[in-house]
Amino acid sequence: MSESFYITTPIYYVNDSPHLGHAYTTVAADVITRYRRLMGQDAFFLTGVDEHGQKVMRAAAARGLTPQAHCDDLAEPYQALWARLSIQYDDFIRTTEPRHQQVVQQILQRLYDEGQIYKQSYEGWYSTSAEKFWTEKDLVDGKCPDSGQSVEWISEENYFFKMSAYKQQLIDTIEQNPDFIRPSSRRNEVLGYLKKELGDLCISRPKARMNWGIELPFDADYVTYVWFDALVNYISAIGYTVDEGRFQHHWPASFHLVGKDILTTHSVYWSTMLFALGLPVAECLYAHGWWTVEGQKMSKSIGNVVDPHLLIDAYGADAVRYFLMREIAFGADGDFSHRAFQLRYNAELVNDLGNLAHRSLSMTERWLGSQMPGRPAPTTSDVALESMAREVCQQFAQAMETLQFKEAYGVLNELVNAGNKYVDTEEPWALNREGRRDRLETVLRNSLEICRICAVLLSPVCPTKAAELLAKLGIEGTPNTESIWRFDGLETGAAVAAGDPLFPRMRELPEVIQQALEAMETAPKPPKKKKKKEKAVTEEATETTPLIEYDDFVKVALRAGHVQTAEKHPKADRLLVLTVDVGETEARTIVAGLAEVFSPEDLVGRRVVVVTNLAPRKLRGVESQGMILAAGGGQIEGLVELPESVMPGAVIR
Ligand code: MSP
Repeated sequence: MSESFYITTPIYYVNDSPHLGHAYTTVAADVITRYRRLMGQDAFFLTGVDEHGQKVMRAAAARGLTPQAHCDDLAEPYQALWARLSIQYDDFIRTTEPRHQQVVQQILQRLYDEGQIYKQSYEGWYSTSAEKFWTEKDLVDGKCPDSGQSVEWISEENYFFKMSAYKQQLIDTIEQNPDFIRPSSRRNEVLGYLKKELGDLCISRPKARMNWGIELPFDADYVTYVWFDALVNYISAIGYTVDEGRFQHHWPASFHLVGKDILTTHSVYWSTMLFALGLPVAECLYAHGWWTVEGQKMSKSIGNVVDPHLLIDAYGADAVRYFLMREIAFGADGDFSHRAFQLRYNAELVNDLGNLAHRSLSMTERWLGSQMPGRPAPTTSDVALESMAREVCQQFAQAMETLQFKEAYGVLNELVNAGNKYVDTEEPWALNREGRRDRLETVLRNSLEICRICAVLLSPVCPTKAAELLAKLGIEGTPNTESIWRFDGLETGAAVAAGDPLFPRMRELPEVIQQALEAMETAPKPPKKKKKKEKAVTEEATETTPLIEYDDFVKVALRAGHVQTAEKHPKADRLLVLTVDVGETEARTIVAGLAEVFSPEDLVGRRVVVVTNLAPRKLRGVESQGMILAAGGGQIEGLVELPESVMPGAVIR
């Protein structure tokens, strides 16, 4: 790993409030930065806002404000949101700041003096929404290919940057550096784009048409094209032309994170600008995918633009960060659904991690006087757990270094499950009962050690909850880099406290979310696209259950349950109301359609399999918090039952 690490997000247009898409990239950059710091690296994280250009000018006019007053007003909400989302950036750049404007002007003057910028009359189709000129053949159905909005024919004199001169250098750079543009599908996309003719880049706008921008130092009738101005932020913020030492320390950037829609501006405009300045390009330009919301494109007209504040209010910042990083592979598109949020949250954070932490800590509290036990001689199963933890740490690091957050937190979840399984098999409750104190201490120490490792690995994505868990384990402050890879990072004798569960169970979607979903449902729907001709349904298709990925299967949390009580449902003959111990602090109430096959007393004491992450549902007025597995389609033929030795809460895979 190189000494310094520099990561950037796009700078966001201040034409609107920040939304889920903005939060996504910024959280990802924060997660990477925190991870790098955890690894002891000197990391620098830059974000900011893009304040010039037509979009911002129009947004200001619509509010009856001067563009500067509008920008001053809208830059702050970004910073406020980042604070609420626990984003720890090192610098926040605004393109109206003199430190930035000055560098843009110096660059322009230099390129102009060198003959790399020239003036020419120009005609073309201009898209105000994308702030780009297009040729006739670029248009799609006569509209802007980027935004789908209408374009206007504009004829004027402008300044151009000789971008075309760098086409071959750009192709060579991309071909010789397979990691420069990622994921690789995006790399091929850019190479495909470069197969077409590459023109020069119009870098000015006549003030007569649009005057909200940085004035060209060599022609006061023009301002700089917003993209030429904005891209420079990546070097103006770190002292280019002003503080050579600082600049050299940080540049080239390790990662520019961008959304897939702004890959061309970054890979083509920005790289050629850097070539013209004789500077190296960033080590990696990573284009992530886009989120849809409840299956639809985010759009103001549908009313489904997700306000990150709403999510933080409803779920808490750490859970939001976790979901964003864990739900979809970084680079792929994905859907933000509140039900999926609830499922993943309850399954991985509440049932898996929360449960491991809570039971390990509670048992230590109860049986070991709230003191961190020591580490007597390990047995084979302890050694196996330890080596699995080491392997997980390695896989986690590999995934984080390549920005595969989904995989990284997937392997962490495997460690949590291994920890839960270890507790189930070692049965500390039996060790306590039998008075086998040494073994009880070892088992609890090992499961607490797994909790510590999980907290450390979780800290980049859930910094607050990770710190909370570490505090419960008697560790204050930031995790010690040294101890990350060790299996003995706990302090024997430290005070241990279970306290409240780390993540409270989400039985129902929070009220604010239910209201937002209802509002979305009642909002007018956009016209539906013409349906593709439906495929004829074959016999085979109706009879075959579609294949699912392992990832889908593990979404279903199956746990061992112990039926404690059973009684008839007061309002339905077919239903029984059971209380089932699934290894949590409280037993679950489960309403099951078993009355026609079993009498209530028949069920008490049975060891059953429970789906614990099914969204709770009221059945004839009684809320059911899970489902019991039984054989048979329409008619119940029998329960799926477990041997006596399986403890409540044991994971079933
Ligand atoms: N100002 C330019 C960037 C200049 S960088 C030198 C800009 N700003 S933006 O505010 O319009 O968009 C910023 C980012 O938000 C882009 O990376 C874009 O991909 C991202 N997203 C906007 N909607 C999104 C989703 N629905 N999902 C994920 N990201 C999305 O472009």
